[in-house]
Amino acid sequence: MLKGKSQRKYTTKDGREFVVRRALPGDLEVLLRNFQRVADEEIYVATKKVSKAQKNRILATMKNPRNLSIVADFEKGVGIVGSLTLVPQREVKKMRHVLYLGMSVIEELREDGLGNALMDYALGWAKARKEIAKISLSISSTNKRAIKLYKKFGFRIEGVLKKQFILKGKYADEIVMSLFLR
Ligand SMILES: CC(C)(COP(=O)(O)OP(=O)(O)OC[C@H]1O[C@@H](n2cnc3c(N)ncnc32)[C@H](O)[C@@H]1OP(=O)(O)O)[C@@H](O)C(=O)NCCC(=O)NCCS
Repeated sequence: MLKGKSQRKYTTKDGREFVVRRALPGDLEVLLRNFQRVADEEIYVATKKVSKAQKNRILATMKNPRNLSIVADFEKGVGIVGSLTLVPQREVKKMRHVLYLGMSVIEELREDGLGNALMDYALGWAKARKEIAKISLSISSTNKRAIKLYKKFGFRIEGVLKKQFILKGKYADEIVMSLFLR
């Protein structure tokens, strides 16, 4: 069990306790199941079926101390229901100062405050690392909930790619949002 700075307690908006902690290899199966559930919604991620390559990438992210992979875990209840990663686009020296953020919470537990907790933990981790200058992410213009959350934590729109996605038969723009730490 991870302790101390690796694990932090949070509460949902209606007062239920959960922890945010570093993801462990033993969490992999649950994480894959949760990703598949988000993929099945066919709105938020391009993935249709979680692949072996993705599984290996998730494991590699967990093991790389320059990256962050965390989970929101109701330890005494439903277990892991959300996750967040910060990874460089490419592991090359000239691009390592920028980390890309990806996150999701299973549908049933959205809007309960878990996204806020994951962001709080992740940005605390990133701000303590002087080598990280910027965090970026890409999101659909239709994802108002996530855009609101990212703006709340200081992210600003850096660029827009028009008609980049077709979601449920309708065009949507791709928005790149960033937070500059230095
Ligand atoms: C985006 C996501 C990770 C956020 O997690 P969450 O647990 O739902 O987030 P929270 O409950 O902590 O916060 C959501 C905020 O959005 C607000 N919100 C909810 N619906 C909204 C809407 N339609 N428009 C604007 N804001 C909205 C909530 O009021 C809350 O605001 P607050 O921080 O001021 O309380 C989660 O909703 C999710 O997994 N969505 C699907 C996958 C996804 O979009 N991933 C990210 C991009 S790929």
